[in-house]
Amino acid sequence: MKKILIGNWKMCDKSALDALHFLKDLPGAQKKDVRIAAPFTLIREMAGNSLKIRIGGQNMHSFGEGAFTGEISAKMLREAGADFVLLGHSERRHLLGETNEFIQGKVERALVEGLSFVLCVGETLEERESEETFDVIQTQLESAFDGISDDQLESCNALIAYEPVWAIGTGKSAEMDQIIKVHEFIKSKYDLPVLYGGSVNLENFQKLVGSRSIDGVLVGGASLGAATFSQMIQLLPEG
Ligand code: PGA
Repeated sequence: MKKILIGNWKMCDKSALDALHFLKDLPGAQKKDVRIAAPFTLIREMAGNSLKIRIGGQNMHSFGEGAFTGEISAKMLREAGADFVLLGHSERRHLLGETNEFIQGKVERALVEGLSFVLCVGETLEERESEETFDVIQTQLESAFDGISDDQLESCNALIAYEPVWAIGTGKSAEMDQIIKVHEFIKSKYDLPVLYGGSVNLENFQKLVGSRSIDGVLVGGASLGAATFSQMIQLLPEG
């Protein structure tokens, strides 16, 4: 399986022109599994790029349509050109109050609409310090995949991203042994690729993607600069 590199652009302030410029010169991207979870307003512009970088959304609603002001549906994402979506990112869980139950609805909706997704899970520092990491991850996974079969998950090429909340945007990546323990735990339960996210940068990139237990990385801050992202693409193992 190819290792996967996903950039999470969050609510960055790139214009459509900036985004197109970013996509101009990323050598080697065509041959690798590179994706960008873009702000909604950039998806249409970025989708279908000649580098074959897959473009996705960062969130969607669990309902197919309706009176949900400010929300976006799976169908709307697909129509804009997205071919995957991030679900349950910790910023949405912790800053915007998304519950495991709501996230389960989103997983179901993504499956109904045939939209591939990346389910993000991860513990807070408090949970890690009180040795609840594995319980928290298990609960997040079991709730999100409640009532959903392994076949359904595989058929939509679902991915799981382990992102410890305390490592996101802090410059403090988790240690390799901490990551590997959680990845092996997840892999013992689900036959899906598991990515790591949380302060991935050029210094720790190679070690992370070189590990047998890590199927790829989800990169926030460090994915915003074309030069850094381009170097990551070059360092990404092909097979
Ligand atoms: P970071 O973000 O790389 O800036 O820590 C990762 C993420 O939130 O997906």
